[in-house]
Amino acid sequence: MTRAKGPDRFVSARIGVPDLDASVAFYQTYVGLELVKNEGDRAFLRAGLPHHALELVHRPGIPKAEVAAITFATGKRDVLENRRESVAKLGYDVRPLSEGTAAYCADGFAVTGPNGLEWEFVHGYYEYVEPPFLVSTPDRIMHPFVRTDDYGATLQLATDGFGLQISDYVEDAMTFLRCEDRYHHSLALLKGSEFRIQHFSFIVADFDHLMRARARAQSHGITIKTDLVKHSGSTTIAFYLLEEAHGPEIELSYGHRRFSEEDHETAEPRRLASGARTEFDLWRESDSDWRGLH
Ligand SMILES: [Fe+2]
Repeated sequence: MTRAKGPDRFVSARIGVPDLDASVAFYQTYVGLELVKNEGDRAFLRAGLPHHALELVHRPGIPKAEVAAITFATGKRDVLENRRESVAKLGYDVRPLSEGTAAYCADGFAVTGPNGLEWEFVHGYYEYVEPPFLVSTPDRIMHPFVRTDDYGATLQLATDGFGLQISDYVEDAMTFLRCEDRYHHSLALLKGSEFRIQHFSFIVADFDHLMRARARAQSHGITIKTDLVKHSGSTTIAFYLLEEAHGPEIELSYGHRRFSEEDHETAEPRRLASGARTEFDLWRESDSDWRGLH
């Protein structure tokens, strides 16, 4: 029997921000995104070809940025239809897409997941024929990292509902999941005592891009929440920015491992033992050193 397919990739996030223009400037300057459109009450920014990687929604008065939605995309209509059914079967109320997403894809649906986060699944996401003409810009948005106190239901929505495959478990507390593009993880879930989107990750082209972005943040006084780390599962080298007015932590990274076509179809998830080196940074002196992961 052929495997029921999931989304090709994680494609975008929607974030409410208290000062739209300041957040647009932040993502342009320190993440390297290109502004697609600023409508005054919301703005779209892109990385690579897809229409947008971020939709920023102006929400005056909120004390800090709040993530509202995460969006996964497929290029195949039948995958969308299958997933609509899978999610409904889990008991979710399948609703139309938000206006900001519906305007830039052929079709899709949204559900309110555990913890109130909107999960969107789209088909025919609009794309450009060329990437942004910028000296330093990420290749793509890669994944959200979700800390949740409703871990089991979130994992079930991601696998049985949205169709992501599991790359690695870390004991019974963390799961890395991949899409059909075969990158090690397009979603990471961590069992926690509260719900929080801990970060969004972007992939840059090479080590020079990473270090230039890091130098720019350092010289402008942008908070580097965690400096260079090496992830074991994805093999990326990364650092994390944090400016709470603009969003959760932003991970800039390069070198994300892809599964071979064969492994993507046949590999069983690894079951890894917990430890700071396993989960966060291979370069840690000690496996019990959790600095930077909170
Ligand atoms: Fe990450």
